[in-house]
Amino acid sequence: MVHLTKIPHDSEVNDLPEAVKKLGLQLNNDDDSFTTSVYGSKFAAEDLPKHEMPENEMPKEIAYRMIKDELSLDGNPMLNLASFVTTYMEEEAEKLMTESFSKNFIDYEEYPQSADIQNRCVSMIGRLFHAPSDGEGAVGTSCVGSSEAIMLAVLAMKRRWKNKRIADGKSAEHPNIIMSSAVQVCWEKATRYFEIDEKLVYCTPERFVIDPEQTVDLVDENTIGICVILGTTYTGEYEDVKGVNDLLIQRGIDVPIHVDAASGGFVAPFVVPEMEWDFRCEKVVSINVSGHKYGLVYPGVGWVIWRDAKFLPQELVFNINYLGADQSSFTLNFSKGASQVIGQYYQLIRLGKKGYRAIMSNLTRTADYLSDALTALGFVIMSKKSGEGLPLVAFRLAAPADPDAEERNYDEFALAHRLRARGWVVPAYTMAPHTGELKMLRVVVREDFSKNRCDALITDIRYCQQLLEQLDKDSIHKQEEFIRKHSMNSDQAKHNHPRFRKEKHSIQGKHGKTHSIC
Ligand SMILES: Cc1ncc(COP(=O)(O)O)c(C=O)c1O
Repeated sequence: MVHLTKIPHDSEVNDLPEAVKKLGLQLNNDDDSFTTSVYGSKFAAEDLPKHEMPENEMPKEIAYRMIKDELSLDGNPMLNLASFVTTYMEEEAEKLMTESFSKNFIDYEEYPQSADIQNRCVSMIGRLFHAPSDGEGAVGTSCVGSSEAIMLAVLAMKRRWKNKRIADGKSAEHPNIIMSSAVQVCWEKATRYFEIDEKLVYCTPERFVIDPEQTVDLVDENTIGICVILGTTYTGEYEDVKGVNDLLIQRGIDVPIHVDAASGGFVAPFVVPEMEWDFRCEKVVSINVSGHKYGLVYPGVGWVIWRDAKFLPQELVFNINYLGADQSSFTLNFSKGASQVIGQYYQLIRLGKKGYRAIMSNLTRTADYLSDALTALGFVIMSKKSGEGLPLVAFRLAAPADPDAEERNYDEFALAHRLRARGWVVPAYTMAPHTGELKMLRVVVREDFSKNRCDALITDIRYCQQLLEQLDKDSIHKQEEFIRKHSMNSDQAKHNHPRFRKEKHSIQGKHGKTHSIC
């Protein structure tokens, strides 16, 4: 998530502790306008510019080294089990992507081959999702990620609904969309930014996905569409697209389904190919998928596909005359790099269906193995196994009401903090509303999370548990505070402007659900 950053006041820009500011040492002050050594230069003895753009230049090697050194305090992406986003690509893919850094993807005429490569990816992904070849034909585009893809799909659903309402002489003032209370935050952004009411289908302490009946019961004349998630961000479980589709058909309701397949779109077709969740369901009009999750590309690339061009109102598409050629464009932004699209094409043709199937099968096996190990350690597993959901493990500590629950002084957040001290990023969340404020931990099994690393994680979870079991509440709290302040935060980056802290308008603000990391 990109943070909205506060620009500090003058009084805030010197952030060294007072005692350090007072130390005055008399060391060599020779002018070093020329030095071949990074750490012998004056730059190594000075603060890196943080608030004001410097007046003078610095040598490129020094700028590189200083920034690289600073970044070394970031977490290790390999140990980041919070994120679905790709942290490993082959060198050949990296090379191709690096070679394309300077290409602006939108410049179709200058880079027609890159544009063609996007079209090939759209075609391959659309076919993977069983896009029908009748009618006006399916259409799709690349995006920065699933969030942009979802914004575009929501805009298309809203405009289609509005056009129909106006044609019928009816009010188009109060559009609504039906979705799970466990949606990723981009859905809340979409509804807020485009002024659409949310109709939430709530989870329960036992059910973390939408119930098809409840979902369809919420439809009214102002419903622009239903969001069904193929792999929720919290527990990875697949929502029942076919169930919702069939109910809409049974009841003769003409409302479209958009499938948010951000993660599942590159998993389900390979692990459970028989499952009908895509354009095989006739009410599914659009699907998004993140290329940078199980599509196996570095961030940011996503895709959105419509089953037929008629679901994309013409007035949303702009024909841009770029350097003499007309190009249709439906995106939220204009310029973007071509590298990610090229990286996606590399993965699609390098791995083929067989390669994706092999990787997704291994991930499913590893997730099942981790699930069993955590059950043996006494955790309660909240995710599905054996391909019934994404390859991730969502788990929690036994609650007092659970059989065999033991008294303990720590919760899921304390365990997450302790694991962080070992380098692992295993996030703790508060689940969606109406689940009894269930807390949970989640491990996303990504391509580079091998069985060997999984074993190391299991050992560390056990070790951290044993340590926490020996501590009283106060010590746990102090340790948690310390780790939160110094390991999970640079303690300098004040990401959040005070004006925007503690928002009350989102599902997180209202119900305490954590907007989870993707
Ligand atoms: C179900 C779901 N939808 C949408 C998103 C947003 O995806 P992106 O990060 O590609 O914008 C995520 C991210 O995890 C997700 O899990």
